[in-house]
Amino acid sequence: MLKIAVIPGDGTGPEVIREGLKVLQAAAGKYQFKFETVTFDFGGERFLRTGETLPDGALEELKQFDAIYLGAIGHPQVKPGILEKGILLRLRFELDQYINLRPVKLYPGVYTPIKEKGPEDIDFVVVRENTEGLYAGAGGFLRRGTPEEVAVQESINTRFGVERCLRYAFELCRKRNKKNKLTLVGKTNVLTYAFDLWERAFHEIGAKDYPDIQRDYAHVDATVMWMVKNPEWFDVIVTDNLFGDIITDLGAMIQGGMGIAAGGNINPQGVSMFEPIGGSAPKYAGKNQINPLAAIAALSMMLDILGQPEAAQGIESSIMKVCTMLKSMSAGQMGYGTAEVGDLVCQNL
Ligand code: IPM
Ligand code: MN
Repeated sequence: MLKIAVIPGDGTGPEVIREGLKVLQAAAGKYQFKFETVTFDFGGERFLRTGETLPDGALEELKQFDAIYLGAIGHPQVKPGILEKGILLRLRFELDQYINLRPVKLYPGVYTPIKEKGPEDIDFVVVRENTEGLYAGAGGFLRRGTPEEVAVQESINTRFGVERCLRYAFELCRKRNKKNKLTLVGKTNVLTYAFDLWERAFHEIGAKDYPDIQRDYAHVDATVMWMVKNPEWFDVIVTDNLFGDIITDLGAMIQGGMGIAAGGNINPQGVSMFEPIGGSAPKYAGKNQINPLAAIAALSMMLDILGQPEAAQGIESSIMKVCTMLKSMSAGQMGYGTAEVGDLVCQNL
């Protein structure tokens, strides 16, 4: 019995999660597994009502589940930072979801803005470190609000944190068995402390335990250039938290946009959380226009990690079929409504 905590969240989150749960139900019938869900109302509405982001005891409660299925967090009436830090980042940190896994895969029939590149060229995975770096919250103000004010925001990189992230990336690269190439993305020419540690760990671990994996390095600025010019060079990318955040938005665009891009916040020994990476898109909320495929792809990633690889595969194949039926991946331009796209994925399962 899979126990899944559902956090539909804000904006279009509830609509896309509803379609994901429809597909989960259909997959459970077809692939013969059982699941139960419990829904939590964390998000902007609850915060505006109660002043609470995550209530006391929520983390302990969530630890009892096998996985978390998240819609979106972010509300136009709440000051930026409060919900992100109070809910999303807090869950990632406190559940020690130290990997943010973001596949960048262009499905056949999906529009990419990169001319002359197709599904055979755009198929890589970004492994983003998810608990350290500039997201750790280290730093502070001095003389805030005065003309002499100082703001310091530091990037935390521990050998332990970097090493577990690198090992995950090497293992994933070996398991994919495509190009067997792992690219470390950093900025060794300027961030000479942080990425010195990353680079040394990368080569030490790689030489010792992963001699079968080719090691490659690219600066982050060059990486965004290559992602557009030669995306076929990449197999698995590993990088720190902020660089991973930035390059995966570009990744989402070249794979067809936020309507299709999914990610997993993974604790390989604990509770992982899966989400469409597009955010709450408030202007589309409640209109039956948002694309649920990203949320459904996140569901597929979740089932894979929960030991249902056939169901995961089946859902991905169905998503691929449905992709060829939609006019566009963008909200309001799919040629179908949100709920119909969910139905199509169920029918093609
Ligand atoms: C993401 C988002 C978050 C991040 C925000 C909402 C805090 O952009 O999941 O990529 O920066 O990690
Ligand atoms: Mn982001």
